Amino acid sequence: MDSKELISEIKRLKNEKNALILAHNYVKGEIQDLADYVGDSLGLSRKSAETDNELIVFCAVHFMAETASVLAKRRQRILCPDLNAGCSLSETITGSQLKEWKKEHPDAIVVSYVNTSAEVKAESDYCCTSGNALNVVRSIPEDKDILFLPDMFLGAWVQEVTGRKMHIWPGECHVHASLPPERIQDLMKVHSDADFLIHPECGCSTSCMYLGSVGKLEKKPHILSTAGMVKHAEKSNAETFVVATETGILHPLKKSLPKKEFIPASDSMVCQYMKMVTLEKLYLSLRDEKHEVKVEEPLKSKAKKAIVRMLDIDG
Ligand code: 13P
Ligand code: SF4
Repeated sequence: MDSKELISEIKRLKNEKNALILAHNYVKGEIQDLADYVGDSLGLSRKSAETDNELIVFCAVHFMAETASVLAKRRQRILCPDLNAGCSLSETITGSQLKEWKKEHPDAIVVSYVNTSAEVKAESDYCCTSGNALNVVRSIPEDKDILFLPDMFLGAWVQEVTGRKMHIWPGECHVHASLPPERIQDLMKVHSDADFLIHPECGCSTSCMYLGSVGKLEKKPHILSTAGMVKHAEKSNAETFVVATETGILHPLKKSLPKKEFIPASDSMVCQYMKMVTLEKLYLSLRDEKHEVKVEEPLKSKAKKAIVRMLDIDG
């Protein structure tokens, strides 16, 4: 089948089976265009928690489909078109490593980024995403020690903004970690009228907070989740945006604001895992209802507590 036939078959099967297609902002544009909802980790978690569709095809990476399975109602099934779509960041910590870390800080509160396995979430007190990490950390009483994991750049940024000292796991995402502040500084000189949108997983996120006041530059970069970037661009008067995150985000940005210009901070910021979802894999998964991601009890209930606490804080 060619792309056109695959697209029409996916649409037909989706209607026939009353399936909901969810897609992360980083997946291929043609997949985003077929989705009922495109968003960041937080938006996708919320959507999967509120929908009644019995079949959800989750076009993203494995831990995101796992999160949806944890939140799923009794009869819902979550499919992930490619079960090998992993995440270098979530692989930096396992449930048993977290158990050992907790032993060193027995009274600490554990805040885990959503980019973790269900096993890690089950050992956590709170989950958070890049969109609500600040609110989650601010909600924890001042006298409590915090273990924050697994992204050290997100953790450092949260620490800097909230002023809250935390123990931070030394994990990183291979796509975001290597973006240096010098690259942003250089781009700010070239695109002096642009708004700068930086994901907090970027190696430069904390130093970028202070870049706007360097030399003659007056504009501060905005540190945002992927959905936060889309919202910001929709409200901003700027005509040009420099975007520091996985380049898939350029698709929803350009789709929403076709007259504005979006420049990637680096063309090499590509997550090979997010690009593993193809039209053919989506079609096969939907047709054969295969590649189910299912978190079983008692792990499901344990992991759910941390996610629900996060959703409660975020309104
Ligand atoms: P968002 O929650 O901002 O979409 O980020 C998820 C992610 O995997 C970033 O690399
Ligand atoms: Fe994981 Fe990084 Fe890919 Fe996001 S961009 S899914 S953190 S590997």
